[in-house]
Amino acid sequence: MIRFWLGVLTGLFLSYGIRRLKSEKYNQDRIALYYTRRASSYSKTDERVYFGYYPRIEMRKKLIENVHLKPGDRVLDIACGTGANFPYIMEKIGPSGEIVGVDFSAPMLQEAQKQVAAHGWKNVRLIQHDAATIQLGEQFDVVICALGMVVIPDYQSAMQRAFEHVRPGGMLGIADLCESQRWYMLPVNTLMDVLDATLVTDTTRRPWELMQPLVENYTREDLLLGYMYVATGKKPA
Ligand SMILES: C[S@@+](CC[C@H](N)C(=O)[O-])C[C@H]1O[C@@H](n2cnc3c(N)ncnc32)[C@H](O)[C@@H]1O
Repeated sequence: MIRFWLGVLTGLFLSYGIRRLKSEKYNQDRIALYYTRRASSYSKTDERVYFGYYPRIEMRKKLIENVHLKPGDRVLDIACGTGANFPYIMEKIGPSGEIVGVDFSAPMLQEAQKQVAAHGWKNVRLIQHDAATIQLGEQFDVVICALGMVVIPDYQSAMQRAFEHVRPGGMLGIADLCESQRWYMLPVNTLMDVLDATLVTDTTRRPWELMQPLVENYTREDLLLGYMYVATGKKPA
């Protein structure tokens, strides 16, 4: 019995230590360096397959489906990275629409630019900026952010900026990693903490909670046993 409680206490202690470590390591310089190193190989991450399931591709499809894009829509993709969402967006908006991609990392944007050139897309603008402070002075039919809020240090401000850039009646869509809310996955959440500590992600964040009170028709769907989600909502007209 004593061993059991010692095990529980050690687990709690480790979990607390890892969370402290994590909260101290999220700074923009470290994140920028991480993505400078990863830029050229980043796009291969979408090819990761688990038991025949491609989680990132499923997440992107679900996000694009749930923000209800139409031909001609103008879309702001926050923390767009290498532009992994662009093909899915372009399929819906067509040549009469527009994508504006914002990212902090120049090397990630260079990869996005290569993709734009390879497809011959003329309706994509790429902007290097911090998503937490961006003010483009224009609004969009749809604003999305995929796998960004888990990384951006000041994600609360980035959520606010994202909402401000949606036109009244437009859609906001966030897709990301998170801790699973399912009780039987609780032990795995501790492993996620360890994984977070080796990457630049913080899966304990809950950006959907910031979005929910601001939007109408809020939806949230779980993917990958609750370790990914897609949250969407409409900005009141
Ligand atoms: C996991 S990648 C996601 C890229 C892309 N959205 C996707 O779905 O594959 C996270 C991206 O967030 C970007 N990022 C990190 N901090 C940022 C910030 N403060 N403002 C804008 N982008 C940021 C990184 O440069 C990186 O490209």
